Amino acid sequence: MRGLAISKAACVGAGVIGGGWAARYAWNGIDVRIHDPDPEAERRCREVIANAERALCHLHGDMPARRGSVTFTDRLDEAVADAEIIQESVPEQVALKQRILAEIDAAAPAQALIGSSTSGLRPSELQAEMARPERFIVTHPFNPVYLLPLVELCGGAKSNQVALERGAAIYRHLGMRPLIVRREIDGFVADRLLEALWREALWLVHDEVATVEEVDDAVRFGAGLRWALMGSFLTYRIAGGEQGMRHFMAQFGPALSWPWTKLMDVPELTDEFIDRIAEQSDDQAAGRSIRELERERDDGLVALLEGLSREKLAAGETVAQHVAATRPAATADLDATAPLDLYRGYVTPAMVDYNDHLTESQYVEVFGRAATALMEALGADQDYRDAGGTFFTVESHQRYLQEIGLDEPYRIEVQVLGADDKRVHAFLRMVHAQSGDLLATAEQMYLHVDRHAGRATAAPDAMRARMDRVAGAHADLDWPEDAGRTMRPLR
Ligand SMILES: NC(=O)c1ccc[n+]([C@@H]2O[C@H](COP(=O)([O-])OP(=O)(O)OC[C@H]3O[C@@H](n4cnc5c(N)ncnc54)[C@H](O)[C@@H]3O)[C@@H](O)[C@H]2O)c1
Repeated sequence: MRGLAISKAACVGAGVIGGGWAARYAWNGIDVRIHDPDPEAERRCREVIANAERALCHLHGDMPARRGSVTFTDRLDEAVADAEIIQESVPEQVALKQRILAEIDAAAPAQALIGSSTSGLRPSELQAEMARPERFIVTHPFNPVYLLPLVELCGGAKSNQVALERGAAIYRHLGMRPLIVRREIDGFVADRLLEALWREALWLVHDEVATVEEVDDAVRFGAGLRWALMGSFLTYRIAGGEQGMRHFMAQFGPALSWPWTKLMDVPELTDEFIDRIAEQSDDQAAGRSIRELERERDDGLVALLEGLSREKLAAGETVAQHVAATRPAATADLDATAPLDLYRGYVTPAMVDYNDHLTESQYVEVFGRAATALMEALGADQDYRDAGGTFFTVESHQRYLQEIGLDEPYRIEVQVLGADDKRVHAFLRMVHAQSGDLLATAEQMYLHVDRHAGRATAAPDAMRARMDRVAGAHADLDWPEDAGRTMRPLR
C-alpha cells in the first residue's frame, strides 16, 4: 500500500525528536509549522534539519522535487490551526503531555490526526484530558527520525481504529514502516527490548565488568550487525542449524533459568556511578561534538541502508521503495530540441576515492543510470525488460574533465546522435548542477536485444518511432567535439 499524501503538519516540541519529525516531513514536501517555547529551539532545529538534508541527499542521491517549508510560531494554536497531522514531542512527563495534548485537541481541525512521540507512556493515560480522544494515537519513532523507518503506533482505550489506519497510511507515505502494537503496554515493543539491553549494559559498567566503550563494542562488532538484518528470532533460527528454531530452543532454553542476567533489577544511580558513566562516555566521544557524532552516525546509517536497499533486505526494502517513489521525474520530452535532462544526483560518501572525489567506477555507474533512464524514456521499462526485451551497452568511451567532490550535485544530459532499427548512439555529459561546469562525457552505443532469442533484434515499431523522434529533434544540435574521439597513443 503506497500511503496517504498530506500537505500540512505541525510539530509541538522541537527537540531531538520533534526536529527529526520536521526534517522527515519537509523532505517529503509537507509544510511544517513548529511550536516550541525554548528560545534556542529554532536554531537547534534548523541545524538538525540541515544535517538531515545532507544525510537524505546521500541516501536518495538527489533533492526532492519540492521540499516543504519549515516555520516557527510562538503560539501553539497557530501552529496546529490548519495541520492534517500533529506530532507532539514534548518532554516525557505525563502531566505536561496531557495538558499539551488537550491544548492541541482544542485548537486543531476536527479531522486532524494527533500523534504523541512518547517512548513508553500509555495512550489511554495521555488522551485522558482530550475532548476528541478518538483521533489520538501514540506514534513512537526512533532517533534519527528522518533516517530510521520504524514508527510504533498504539491506540488507547478511546482511540479509533480509523486513526490507527490513517496514521499507518500517512507514515508509509513518508517512507516509514509502521508497526501497530497489538495491545497497549508500557514501553510498547521496541523500548521493552531496548530497556532490557540498557539494564544489562548499566549493570556491566556498574560491576566494572566492562567500560561503556567495551559494552558498545560488544554490540556493534557482533550482534548489532545481525539485528539490522534479521532481528532476534530469525537470527536464532539460523543459529539452531538445520533443525532450526526447535533445536535452538532445546539447546539454549535451559540457560534462561540459570540465569545470566540481572534484568529484574536496576543499579542504583548514585552520583559516583553517573560520574563514572559520564567520564567514560567523554573518553569514548574523544572530543567529537554532538553534531559531529550525529553526522558520523548518519553517514554510517546511510551506508547501511544503501547496502540493505541494494539487497532489498529489512529496512532497505522500505527505503528503496521510498527512494524510487520520491525520485524527481527526469524530463524526457522526446520532441525537445535540447539534450534530455535524464539523471541527477549527489556525490555520496560511498562514491568517493581517497581524495574525496567521485571515483572512477562511479562515473560508469552514473552514466549507466542515465542510460537506463534513456532506455526507459524510449519504452524499455521494467515491464518491457520482464518480457525479455532490453538494450545492451555495447561500446562506451569516457572522458574525465574535472573532478567533483563529496556532497556536490551533478546532472546528466543526453544527446541522441543517431538511431537505426537496432541501435541508439548517444552522447552523455555530466555537468556540475550548481556551477554548470562540464565534468565528464561518455559516448555510448546501445543495441536492442531480445534476451529470450539471445540476439540483437529490431526494436518494435512504437519504440523505433520514439528513437527516430528524439534523434530527429537532436539532429540540429551541434555535433559534440568529443564524439568519435579515440585515445591518442603516446607514440
Ligand atoms: N530522544 C530519543 O531518542 C527519543 C526517541 C523516541 C521517542 N522520544 C520521545 O520524544 C519526546 C521528546 O523527546 P526528545 O528526546 O525530543 O526531548 P528534548 O528534550 O530533546 O525535546 C523536548 C522539546 O520540547 C520542548 N517543550 C517543552 N515544553 C514545551 C511546551 N509546553 N510546548 C512545546 N514544546 C515544549 C522543549 O523546549 C524541547 O525542545 C519524549 O516523549 C520522548 O520520550 C525520544
